[in-house]
Order: sequence, then C-alpha cells, then structure tokens
Amino acid sequence: MLTLPLNHVIESQQFDRNLLEIVFQVADQMKADLLGERKYAKALDGKIMASLFYESSTRTRFSFESAMLRLGGSVITTENAREFSSASKGESLADSTRIMNGYADVIVMRHNEAGSAVKAAAVSRIPIINAGDGAGQHPTQALLDMYTIVDTFPKFSGLKVAMVGDLRYGRTVRSLSYLLTKYEGVEIVFVSPSVCRMEADIKEYLDKNNINWHEETDLKKVAKEVDCVYMTRIQKERFHSVDDYKAAASKYILTPEIVQTMKQDAIIMHPLPRVDEIPAEVDTDPRARYFEQAQNGLYVRMALLFLLLQNN
Ligand code: CP
Repeated sequence: MLTLPLNHVIESQQFDRNLLEIVFQVADQMKADLLGERKYAKALDGKIMASLFYESSTRTRFSFESAMLRLGGSVITTENAREFSSASKGESLADSTRIMNGYADVIVMRHNEAGSAVKAAAVSRIPIINAGDGAGQHPTQALLDMYTIVDTFPKFSGLKVAMVGDLRYGRTVRSLSYLLTKYEGVEIVFVSPSVCRMEADIKEYLDKNNINWHEETDLKKVAKEVDCVYMTRIQKERFHSVDDYKAAASKYILTPEIVQTMKQDAIIMHPLPRVDEIPAEVDTDPRARYFEQAQNGLYVRMALLFLLLQNN
C-alpha cells in the first residue's frame, strides 16, 4: 500500500522524488477512478476536512472541497475566515488551530502571512495542508503543476522552463522551483519586471542543487527557446508601493503573436487566476494547458487527502 510519511504538507521541500512519484501514481488512480469504477467513493467516509481560508480562492478551496466530497468525506468551512471566524475578534491562529483539532481530521489552510502554516502545524495533532501562505509557498499548487509537466513530458530530460511575471510575491513559482530540482537536466529562465524578481533564497537553493538558471527580460526571445512557459499574475494585493505595482502591471503579456513562435510541443501554464497576462485568444491553442492544469488539482488533492487520511 502506498503511504505518505508526512504529518503536514507545509512546503515543497518536503517532497523528494520518491514522494512525488507516490502522489502522482495515486493521482493517476483517482483520475481513472472518477471516470470509471468509483471504488474510492467512500474511501474517506466519516472523515472531516476543515477548510480555513483567510484569503480568497476559487481553485484551491473548491478543488480541495470537491476532492474530500468525492472521497466520501465531509467538509466544514467558513466564508472568509478573516471576517467570519473568531480571528475577527482577535483570536490567534494557534488557538483557532487547537480548536479546529477537536472538530476535524485535517485542516486545509490559506493565510495572508508567510509562515502561518508552520505556526499552525506547531500546535496541531491533525494534518495541516498549506493552501498558500502569503508570499511564502503553495506546495499543493506546485504538486499539480509538476503532475501536469510530468504528464506532458514523461521522459523529462533537459527540460527548459520559463517562469514569467511576479516572481517575488508569487508563491507558486517559489514552490515549483523547489520541485523542479528533483528532476535531472532542468533549466529555469526567470523573466520578470525588475521590481518583482525571484528572491535570493530560491536562487541559492537552485545553485546548491546544481540547477541551471538565469534571468532574462525579453519574453519574445525566451518563449521561442523553452519547453514550458509558466505565466503568473502580478500580485497587486502584495505590493507595498503603487509605483512598483504600476511598473510591473501588464509588462509581460503572452500574446498570440508570441505563442506562434513557441515550439510546437511546448506548453503554456498558469496557476490562475489571470488578469491580462494571457489573452483569451490563446486559450484555443493546443499548447495552452492552464485549464487542464487546474483540473489536475482535483486529482492531486484527492491523492493527498487519501494518502494523509487513509490510516489516520
Ligand atoms: N491557483 C490558485 O491558487 O488559485 P486560487 O487562488 O483560485 O485558489
């Protein structure tokens, strides 16, 4: 039986190649099961997932909730935990976590502050799954991103990935960078406005793990050369300066003209939501994978919940 020897899912660095393959194998099983036998339909019968979201979400929250329901479990939740949980009365995250331990078997938590998932895990007997903590990490997004990449490029040799947009405040590119180090021959090109370049801690981690990376400013030049263009939204809500935001907004747009120059077997990814960085005309290009990527989130999150809770 496949198991995941983790108490919590907090950051991408927790996943080595072996754990990634376990998650992806179970995600494949979940995908096949949803289309076929439905033998996992009661796999988590009697289990309760608390979704505690202090920040807005469409994909992460609904795919986790759908995943739990499709596995036969139940979900307890609050609309906007910042406003409608007792956080609004000043309750600490640690106290809220301790209380939720008595009501649920797993907590999926999104928070506006980096490091909040670590704080919650420190006082939690039940698994905490980090569904995004400020500009910190979004490990389950990275898992579904990697699942999508591996599904497209099963041999995965010498793959060149461009990460484009807000690399400073975008937590998905940080988490994905960690996972890419688990595969041989990867090269990463960072393309961003100067006010939101990738942070030094990630660059140092890539160096330590012998991953080739460099920075570019010309998206037209880079798009032709890479196997995967991973676009991201400029995270307006995390900028401290309006001038910096204005300097970054709408700077990198993957136009249909640029897409025309990409390799035929390349792919376009985006964690979504998007603003203007990928025009809707690109959606019908067979290289556009962002909706499939979001769908894969369901299978990967079913796999994670199953692996964390099956024997718990
Ligand atoms: N990709 C992602 O985290 O989307 P949501 O903010 O809608 O959850």
